[in-house]
Amino acid sequence: MKCTVVDRLEDARGADGYVICVTADGRASWEGKQVAHLARKLGIDLAFLARTERFAGKETQDVYVRVLRGAQSHRLVLLGLGRGADVDPSRLRRRLQRAGTMMVARGMRRPAVLLPERLSLPVEVALEAVLVGIHLGAGRVTSYARSSSIKEAPPSTVHVVLPGKAEQGRPAASRAEVLAEVIQEARAWVSEPANMLGPEDLAHRAVALGQAHRVATETWRLPRLRKERMGLLEAVGRGSSREPCLVRMDWVPAARKGGDAVKRVFIVGKGIVFDSGGLSIKPAKGMVTMKCDMAGAAAAAAAVVAAARLDLQIRVTALLPIAENTPSSRASRPGDVIRGRAGKTVEIISTDAEGRLVMADGIALAAEEKPDAIIDVATLTGACMVALGSYTAGLWASDDAIAGRICDAAGQTGESVWRMPLLGELMPFLKSDIADLRNSSSDPYGGAVTAALFLQEFAAGVPWAHLDIAGPAWHDKRTDLGPRGATGFGITTLVRYLSIMAGT
Ligand code: BES
Ligand code: MN
Ligand code: ZN
Repeated sequence: MKCTVVDRLEDARGADGYVICVTADGRASWEGKQVAHLARKLGIDLAFLARTERFAGKETQDVYVRVLRGAQSHRLVLLGLGRGADVDPSRLRRRLQRAGTMMVARGMRRPAVLLPERLSLPVEVALEAVLVGIHLGAGRVTSYARSSSIKEAPPSTVHVVLPGKAEQGRPAASRAEVLAEVIQEARAWVSEPANMLGPEDLAHRAVALGQAHRVATETWRLPRLRKERMGLLEAVGRGSSREPCLVRMDWVPAARKGGDAVKRVFIVGKGIVFDSGGLSIKPAKGMVTMKCDMAGAAAAAAAVVAAARLDLQIRVTALLPIAENTPSSRASRPGDVIRGRAGKTVEIISTDAEGRLVMADGIALAAEEKPDAIIDVATLTGACMVALGSYTAGLWASDDAIAGRICDAAGQTGESVWRMPLLGELMPFLKSDIADLRNSSSDPYGGAVTAALFLQEFAAGVPWAHLDIAGPAWHDKRTDLGPRGATGFGITTLVRYLSIMAGT
């Protein structure tokens, strides 16, 4: 899918569908030359159409009609944005995600999108939200169905009409394209069935992607993991014949003359290519989508590559602890005690609480380099989904400054992130009789909090934030935000956070 920005409707060559974005100020408001031009071209009275469809431009409203004109039929979507004064980047992105899903559902191949001519947002900001939104909503991943049975395809070209401002919008458009590309890549990895994407395959893809974009990469395979005392990661991967590994991806901006030393951030992403639960095996129903358990690793890889492609002036290192969690005679058992990178011992109570084990080793490794911040991203707990639902990530942070930056970043890009507490009173439930920690709380409540408390033990006082994306990483059903499957959640928030940290 290609997105281009044009000044006039006439420049949207071969358009076979139109999305008119409409604000609601009392009633639908869509003055603007391009819209008037389109109405004339299609021979329709938009105000009449809106009245008959009871469309007022509210942010929950959209209308699809087919307009017959002579021998031609045109697809038309009216997309409500809500009150003009309330249109922020987050709203724009979400509404254009909806538009993207409609483009696919209605079979538009070359749609043109008409934005309101008077938005109270800088062009760059609005355009990035619009373009990323369209990509997220319309993007589809590889299907292994025989081609004759695939009905849904993204448009080939989307023209965004921005009167008189196309040129000014070019930089934002290319930024959005970078974001869209890394998001689509991450979605593709997450959607790949685990038989086609084992630990080695995931590592290969991360390395290939990094190398294509000036990101230095290194892979530690099993012997090196042992030498480096990554005992927890090794323990999780023991059961599978497909051995665990760790990928490091490093973006180091070129030194600028007279510039200050750049900041340094680590992103640690959970890379469980399939989570069967191990010997503490999951019920069949809960296992079906567990190929998505490497969404954190995919997001971390995508974010560091985006940082490099956008030339962000900040050093970013992604660490991807990668393993497959399966039972076998070699698998770790409940009751085993394992020593990890930090030197702490962990009693494994449930082999299904494997995410925090691999993440603990990754976080400990990151903390040794004393960066300015460590952000970890993981599909960590079902409990987080119970707490916040399927669309919102839980955020835990060691201090208000880092939490504030991440909440700002999420708010600016339209992802839903909610800060949660690190409740010290739950810490006793992580105490073990024979080890420093147990990997699963002895109390059934507050599971997302105790998982975060567990991870905090490995951050060694470095400013740290934890994003539990178990809910939003994967959608079981198609929504207004996109198709069923991998969402690419977290990537734009991470990239925005990095650019905040870089001071841009
Ligand atoms: N990968 C799962 C968490 C998950 C659940 C992600 C649903 C996406 C959707 C994680 O490894 C897990 O199994 N967590 C356990 C922890 C428990 C054993 C302490 C859980 O949430 O049940
Ligand atoms: Mn698990
Ligand atoms: Zn898991």
